[in-house]
Amino acid sequence: MRQTAAITGAQFGDEGKGAVVLEYLKNADICVRYNGGNNAGHTLYDQNDKEVKVNIAPSGIILPHITNVIANGCVVDLEVLDDNIKGLETRLLISDAAHLIFPYHQLEDQLQEEAKKKKALGTTGKGIGPAYADKVKRTGIRAGMLRKPKELEERLREIVEIKNHEFERLYESDKRIDAEDIIKRLKPLITRFASAVTDTSIYLHQAIKNGKRIVFEGAQAALLDLDHGTYPYVTSSNTTIGGVLTGTGLGLKAIGKVVGVAKAYATRVGEGPMLTEGEEYSAIKQSLEKLTAGEILKVMNGEIEDDNYDKLVSRHIREGANEYGATTGRPRRVGWLDLVALKKAVRINGMDELALTRLDCLDGIGKIKVCTAYQQKNGERQINEFPNDQEELIDFEPVYEIFKGWESTKVIKIYKELPKSAKEYLRFIQDFLETPIAMIRNGPKQGDYIQTKDLWR
Ligand code: IMO
Ligand code: MG
Repeated sequence: MRQTAAITGAQFGDEGKGAVVLEYLKNADICVRYNGGNNAGHTLYDQNDKEVKVNIAPSGIILPHITNVIANGCVVDLEVLDDNIKGLETRLLISDAAHLIFPYHQLEDQLQEEAKKKKALGTTGKGIGPAYADKVKRTGIRAGMLRKPKELEERLREIVEIKNHEFERLYESDKRIDAEDIIKRLKPLITRFASAVTDTSIYLHQAIKNGKRIVFEGAQAALLDLDHGTYPYVTSSNTTIGGVLTGTGLGLKAIGKVVGVAKAYATRVGEGPMLTEGEEYSAIKQSLEKLTAGEILKVMNGEIEDDNYDKLVSRHIREGANEYGATTGRPRRVGWLDLVALKKAVRINGMDELALTRLDCLDGIGKIKVCTAYQQKNGERQINEFPNDQEELIDFEPVYEIFKGWESTKVIKIYKELPKSAKEYLRFIQDFLETPIAMIRNGPKQGDYIQTKDLWR
């Protein structure tokens, strides 16, 4: 049996990592966030099927037996953390080397996006990029400072002055941050969280020695990785496996196995390439108004061929699966599963196995497509590996393998009982990626999954 598992996003985020993490945590002791901040939005269901949303708190906060760790690779907004854990009895540790997010980071995020105009990244606006930029510039404030509130206040006053100067000169903005206001707002939180601050690298190292079981919970995903994602349309941290090591201060041998979480289709929020997208959200509505409800049903069932098929499916999935951002509420871009992109995620992470989520959200769709390569629109060239430079994808379109749909995968608990065509779809994905699917999620609640092997083996 393995002692630790790293659970990372394999697509563009929102793969349902939190729910997968919860199932692993049922037989574990510690849940560790190693990257990102409250740009993440993990929607969970607790034991009473009540919906809980977490952003910076590890998903383990809804399980009383778990110790939750926010490790050094994260950026922490104390107000959001406070909000996430409200009313929950939980044991929480914060690395003294994790960086803090302050209101000036959010303003900077917003001003940077505005300055980029049409080239805006579509960030979550939570100040993530600016907080990591300050870390790299070596001007950030780390959580260790929570234990020295007087120094922290002084440092905040200094930084706010510099930031206000930048807002004025660099961005020609008349917006300003008031240091005294921030200090007043944060004072109770600084006192409250100071006692949670510790060197979590030492804590985790010791925990491993003591035989504790650990889940490393990823935020965002492989294609949003700062180095390996669709740069510049990425987040500002290493979401992939290297981020677990630098983000926790543990050695290579601390990683027992790597589980990649992917949806049975693809979604993305924010800008950046997504070749399998049904159609841009804004364009969909217009083109579908021409079809009657009866026609739509027939197209969806595969009874009549229609150019609008991909658009219809993406809308059907968005509404059926509630594909709206958990953090920002933005409608997610929806498309077919992209195995070229997923193959890259498997390679970068050295994934041992996959957890495939939301299979049930494809229920009832006439035919299911999966992208296996990209082809130049004039048919000249084919690309089989996801390029680092997204410009290479201009003028390319997906090559699809098409599968017969199925009626329902809901409630099923045993792999054998899945519809034949669903099994064919799953087998194709496994074979293409040369990676086993260990868990198949077919509903939003805890326990809504099929496992093909012991999760901790
Ligand atoms: P979870 O953990 C989906 C996206 C943003 C934007 C880009 C950069 O729920 O999977 P940032 O605010 O990080 O500077 O924005 O990254 N993004 C996510 N998309 N899921 C997430 O987290 C994301 N976190 C950031 O939409 O395109
Ligand atoms: Mg999310």
